[in-house]
Amino acid sequence: MALVGGGIPADPELMSGNEPQSATDSHTDVGVLLTQPRRYRAFKSAFLLGRAGRLNARLAALTDPAPGADVVDIGCGPGDLARVLARRVGRVTGVDPSPQMIDYANARSRDLANCRFELGTAQALPLPDTSADLVTSTFVMHHIPAAHRGDAVAQMFRVLRPGGRLLLADTHPTDPLLSAAVRVMARFAAHRTRDTAHDDPLAAIDIRRYRDLLCATGFEDVRFVTVRPATAVLLATKP
Ligand SMILES: C[S@@+](CC[C@H](N)C(=O)[O-])C[C@H]1O[C@@H](n2cnc3c(N)ncnc32)[C@H](O)[C@@H]1O
Repeated sequence: MALVGGGIPADPELMSGNEPQSATDSHTDVGVLLTQPRRYRAFKSAFLLGRAGRLNARLAALTDPAPGADVVDIGCGPGDLARVLARRVGRVTGVDPSPQMIDYANARSRDLANCRFELGTAQALPLPDTSADLVTSTFVMHHIPAAHRGDAVAQMFRVLRPGGRLLLADTHPTDPLLSAAVRVMARFAAHRTRDTAHDDPLAAIDIRRYRDLLCATGFEDVRFVTVRPATAVLLATKP
């Protein structure tokens, strides 16, 4: 879902030219930040034909966390997946560098005592070593500057406990019309994150490109699965 901007939703701002407050810092140093949570949710919902909730439920089921698990959702955006996970685990921490997303996510989660959101980046997670049983990051990798993605995966590995699991997801369009739309959005994201590794923007958002990086970082049992609608996932385990 990050279509354009990455996840499905992230991109309405990219496409509209609605820039983060500090465009230079955001795009070269931190990432492509999204600053309009309501607009993002509306865009994501439209893109998924109203099935965003169903997708989050499927992603949560795929991770199959233990009831007492500690979960970190990186690039949490408005916090929808974090809230779904919080209803089945011990504690969820959402991290995002966008203050607007963190404020919105906290405001919508006051009924969930075990769910909190804080400012931070994937490449410098503000969390202790070996403090999580599950790390999720959906429609986010293409928002992180290409030069920092290795650090981001290393941070995911660092915060996981031995035996902990990682779920990385991004858009995986199969319909030709959807693919064309995603291609346009992904091209914006690749430009803004200085991702020059792929000529084809669809290849740039293909989550499978991180399989070797996960293995080189130390993850094991790396598995690729597709999830409807329009999403692909890498699952991995920290030994
Ligand atoms: C497309 S949204 C995905 C939101 C949510 N994970 C979802 O599935 O709907 C991408 C999010 O990544 C955040 N982001 C951008 N750069 C980041 C970075 N370096 N580290 C972590 N998150 C980042 C953006 O602010 C935005 O909220």
